[in-house]
This record gives sequence, C-alpha cells and structure tokens, in this order.
Amino acid sequence: MYLGLDLGTSGLKGVVIDDAQTVVAEAVAPLSVSRPHPGWSEQDPAHWIAAAEEVLTRLGAATSLSAVRGIGLSGQMHGATLLAADHEPLRPAILWNDTRSSAEASALDTIPMFRSISGNIVFPGFTAPKLVWVKANEPDVFGKTALVLLPKDMLRLWLTGEAVSEPSDAAGTSWLDTGERTWSPELLGACDMTVAQMPRLVEGSEVSGTLRDSIATRFGFSSGVVVAGGAGDNAGAAVGMGVVEEGQAFLSLGTSGVLFAPSPGYNPAPETSVHTFCHALPGLWHQMGVILAASDALSWHGQLLGADPVALAVDIGPLKAPSQTIFLPYLGGERTPHNDARIRGAFVGLGHETDRVAATRAVMEGVAFAVADCRDALEAAGTRVERAIAVGGGSRSRAWLEIMATALGIPIDVPGAGDYGAAFGAARLGQMAATGGGAELATPPAIADTIEPDRELERAFSDAHDRFSALYLALRGVR
Ligand code: XUL
Repeated sequence: MYLGLDLGTSGLKGVVIDDAQTVVAEAVAPLSVSRPHPGWSEQDPAHWIAAAEEVLTRLGAATSLSAVRGIGLSGQMHGATLLAADHEPLRPAILWNDTRSSAEASALDTIPMFRSISGNIVFPGFTAPKLVWVKANEPDVFGKTALVLLPKDMLRLWLTGEAVSEPSDAAGTSWLDTGERTWSPELLGACDMTVAQMPRLVEGSEVSGTLRDSIATRFGFSSGVVVAGGAGDNAGAAVGMGVVEEGQAFLSLGTSGVLFAPSPGYNPAPETSVHTFCHALPGLWHQMGVILAASDALSWHGQLLGADPVALAVDIGPLKAPSQTIFLPYLGGERTPHNDARIRGAFVGLGHETDRVAATRAVMEGVAFAVADCRDALEAAGTRVERAIAVGGGSRSRAWLEIMATALGIPIDVPGAGDYGAAFGAARLGQMAATGGGAELATPPAIADTIEPDRELERAFSDAHDRFSALYLALRGVR
C-alpha cells in the first residue's frame, strides 16, 4: 500500500491506495488561513503537523498502515517557511496567496536573470519576493533564517528529519534554474541568500528519506517506509490524472483556475505570463496558465446575491450565445495572461433585462474567457491544448463545462467517480519511489462523459471573447 498527503490551503488530505491503486482509505483535516493585515495570508507550520497527525490517526483507524511501503507528499506551492538552525519556525509561513510582497516581486522581475534562469515572471506570491520583504521588514528573522522550506517539505522534515525538496515545487520559488532542475546561486544571491539555506533536491518519484522510527511506531507503520520527493499541488494532480505526456491536459476549476499541459522539453516563455515549471517526473516539464478566480468568482457572485453558487449554476438552463453582459473575473488581480496585480473585476453591458440568470451566466462565461486567454497564452508559448480532463469543484457543474468546451473550442473529458487529485497523485509518487516505477504508474482515469463544443455557438463565444479582451484593455486604461 501507498500513502499520499496533500497539504492544501484549506485542509490536509490523506489517501491510502493498494498495489492496484484502489483507494482504501481517505481522511481530511481542515486548515484555516490567518489574515492579520490586508493582503497577508499566513499559516502556522505547527497547524500543518497537527493536521497531519489527525489525518494519520484517522487513516490508521480505517486501515492498517503497517502495509504502507511508500509515502508521497504534495502541497500548496510558493509558501515560505523560515526555519532557524535548530529547524524551529521563526514566524508563521507566508502563503502563495499573500500579496504583501508584490512591490518586491516587480522589482526582482526587472532583473533580467530572474526570467532567463527561472523561466518565469517573478509573480507576486512566489517565494523569492517574500524573503526580500522579510529582510526589509523583519531583519532579525531574516538574519536567523538557516533554512527555507516549501509547505509540503516542512511535513517531510517532520516525517523523515530530512530537508529535501523536488523540482516541481522548487520551480515556483524564482530561485530554481528550471532548465537544469538545480538551485541557482545567482538568483539566491540576488536575494542575499545562498544554496546552503535551501533543501537538497531529488526528483518527485525518487526517495527523499525514510520515515522516522518514532513516527512509524506512533502511527503503526512498519520500519523502512520511504518518502518520495513528491510534487507541487498542480503537478501532483497531473500525476493523479495521468497527465504526464505531451498532448494531454487538465483544466482545474477550483478557487483558482489552471490549464495545465506537460512538455518533454524546457521551453520557457515568460512574456506570455504562462508558468513553465518542472513536472514531477524526471526529464519532464509542464506549462500552465493560472487565473486567480475561477469558482471563487461564482462564490463572490453568490455571496452578493445571497444565493448558493451551486444552485445559481444549475439555474442558468441550456447553453446559449453570450449576451451583451460581460463579466471580468479579476477580483484579486490576474496572473495569466496579464500579470496584473492591480486590475479588478467588472460587469459591463448591463441593461434593464439583465436579471439574476443573465448575470450568473456572464460570471460563468467570464471565467471561461479567462481560461480561453490561458489557452491562447499556452499556444503562444508553443503548447497546443486539444482536449482537457476537468477537475475541481467547479467541474461538477455540467452547464459550466458546456460553456468552457464551447469557449475553448475543445472537448472536455469528465472522469468517472473517484478522486484523482493531488493526494492520489502523491500516493502514486510514493509507489514509484518504493518500487522504482515511473510514468507507467500514472494512468488516466476512466472517462465517464465527454462534453463537445457546440460548433453552432462557437462563433458567438469567440466574438464575446474578443469583447472581453477589449474590455480588459479599456479597464486597464482607466484606473
Ligand atoms: C500555482 C498556485 C496555486 C497554489 C495553490 O502556481 O499558485 O495552484 O499551488 O495551491
């Protein structure tokens, strides 16, 4: 058996699979985010450990963990966990959706080697600008920082005693030479840091360490359980869905939205605002477009109307051509394709006839147009998406997937019942590390349904997408 642990932002999930990859137990422990100042988003690493203890206890009650041979880890990317020489946290971890260091991100992004070595824009939320902020605002903490870990790597430190990371998550720090899959002394140096402050790197499917005896005894594991390198949450989910070869893709409609496609070579294109990161398997990279508000936009809309967003999405009825009402989902700025932290959302083209259903439809279409922008940005970066597997809470709305398929002009595959997310992908990486297996263990799920684009409405959607793009430019000009 194999165990996957995914350290999300709102909860830590654990999944145990057997040798045939059937899920035999799962458990989730909730996590909360602390926002002590506007734009800040933090978590106490002690809460991650407590959540892992809870999940392991519950998994151990559901199945015998003594048969587990390998563990994989995945987690929210970009967070900065600052540790002293004794490996004690020096402050709460600063998370991926914390915007306090956007000025520092813009400043680093003007230094050409950040884009040329890391292959990416230094986005607000990435790890490097957080350390520049800490140096300026908490110099004591910066001075004592002996080790910087990404969130899931903090769990590994607790599980194994080893400070290790892997390239898929490390690529989101702005300190990785993403083509070489090694830390860049130059990029670290530009933040007054050194490679000695960073964890050792192994590939996601390789062994990073062995479970500590005290943890094994406490939760009922056998001795010698290996812990795989693991993955950042998007690469982990891709392993869970078997998206590990060129030509495959997934569309995730969670709080944020992600259009993700693997690539066998390293072809960075930071000017497109596409993310080019290492995948979780050796010799593989991926590109993804990230929008910051996907189901988050529908939740916001539901809150405004005092209505359940799921019910709103059901009420919109059959697919039809977009109306004149356009919604721009930039509630917290945007990454792909605009790299614009200051832009904000809008409803445009309201009329007396714009009712609740028309406004909801506009919100769902607006998110689809933002995803279509990601598809265009990926194409400009050399990655063509021909079809995608849908995942995430928003993918449970068939109406939304119909809008997506037609706005993107591609078939969207819906997996059958089951959980193919990052925790499942992490368990597969645990299996690879324990058995020496590779991509052959990351098979795609059975597809229950394929939603084809409505060819008769494609033109109307593409015209509305053009209006959507023109409105971004207009809004950018009036702030
Ligand atoms: C990816 C990103 C998010 C986080 C959240 O770049 O910011 O997907 O990993 O979990």
